Amino acid sequence: MKNILFIASEGVPFIKTGGLADVVGSLPKCIDKEYYDVRVMIPKYSCMSDKMKEKLSYKAHFYMDFHWKDEYVGILESEVDGVKYYFIDNEGYFTGVKPYTDNALFEIEKYAYFSKACLSALPVIGFRPDLIHCHDWQTGLVPVYLHERFQGNEFFRGIKTVMTIHNLKFQGKWNVKDVQDITGLPDYYFTPDKLEAYKDANLLKGGLVFADAITTVSDTYAEEIKTEFYGENLEGLLRARSGDLRGIVNGIDYDDFNPETDKHLEYPYNAMNYRKEKVKNKRALQKELGLEVNDKIMMIGIVSRLTDQKGFDLIAHVMDELCQDAVQIVALGTGEERYENMFRHFDWKYSNKVSANIYYSDALSHKIYGACDAFLMPSLFEPCGLSQLMSLRYGTLPIVRETGGLKDTVEPYNEYESRGTGFSFVNYNAHEMMATVRYAERIYYDKKREWNKMVDRAMAADFSWHVSATKYQEMYDWLIGY
Ligand code: GLC
Repeated sequence: MKNILFIASEGVPFIKTGGLADVVGSLPKCIDKEYYDVRVMIPKYSCMSDKMKEKLSYKAHFYMDFHWKDEYVGILESEVDGVKYYFIDNEGYFTGVKPYTDNALFEIEKYAYFSKACLSALPVIGFRPDLIHCHDWQTGLVPVYLHERFQGNEFFRGIKTVMTIHNLKFQGKWNVKDVQDITGLPDYYFTPDKLEAYKDANLLKGGLVFADAITTVSDTYAEEIKTEFYGENLEGLLRARSGDLRGIVNGIDYDDFNPETDKHLEYPYNAMNYRKEKVKNKRALQKELGLEVNDKIMMIGIVSRLTDQKGFDLIAHVMDELCQDAVQIVALGTGEERYENMFRHFDWKYSNKVSANIYYSDALSHKIYGACDAFLMPSLFEPCGLSQLMSLRYGTLPIVRETGGLKDTVEPYNEYESRGTGFSFVNYNAHEMMATVRYAERIYYDKKREWNKMVDRAMAADFSWHVSATKYQEMYDWLIGY
């Protein structure tokens, strides 16, 4: 049996702000339990729902030397679908209405504490991982601390680490002096070949330097981040470590996302009966959102964090034009105010065509996947992207920009060979996107048989964790040795 520990800042079903939580919540379940004991460690945020908090039980606590203080470290535990979760508890760091704040320095202190606390907790709970799988910048210090102090201790010696990049944009950067003071790491670590990057201390970089292997969430993104445009100033390091860097595409939970058993859908459907049943969900959603009730009109969904990563500048630029066409647009999500207001504006201007839902709701997201004909995701960059995978599963054809995981998971329609599962364009250009949406409209309205064949192919595509979980297992085996 090999012991694997996931450390991350969020995980479904306990706490979620983005796709990271979906991956942390669904991948461990799919790792073969006969050979691996996979457990997960996340913070115990006070903003978790009461329903989830009730599922946690106290395990132990101790005090840890951190940032010149003796800090409390509580450990709680729970189990979901056979996966054991541990929660690191500290009110000073994990209290608030959301997991993350805008105070960059506090975030660094919080996750430095978390990283050290996770390692310190291991002997206390008596779980010695053979490998620690770290996710994003919040856990970047785990491989660093392991290298610096814990390896000296028999319990920790030989533990391997993997660092997975879900989004290179966020790195946890701050001036060296403060970070050194907070982390207690010696000077040795703050040089340009280790934690320092462009004069600042960079927590993700620390993880990328000291991890035994690096992964990211699609093949294309693994290549892209070695270039200046996508590399966020770490392309040099990623090129230097390219031998230890690989892309493993994300999957989604095929039980949670299944149009046949989805409790949020009024009219469940499958690959055999979607032609008759899917449109009923469209009708229901049109009623619910106050759009014109019309089976025929092409409905385009958008479910996203409203950030510039997701390509909303392109949408804002051509929204007026798009609304001249026979389409309906249903958007769901929160984020930057300028994008929230952009959608509110068009909802007001084209009230029977556009529905802006500026909040987050699991239920509505499932209804959108179930009801829409197409799904728009013109990202500027996209490490993997999960909503296009959910769309494919629900026979809702994605219209995407060819970047990162979008390129790897959506096969563009080829009308000559009758192939493809969606529509895509190459350049980050609003009219290129617009032309692609219009191409999709033409197929939808004029070649419905072709459209439906594409839906058949989309629903038959397999983006469950099955294949990718095996790739993680192979990597674990290779790093741990047999
Ligand atoms: C981040 C990325 C997204 C990816 C997700 C899970 O949210 O932006 O592309 O799918 O992490 O890996």
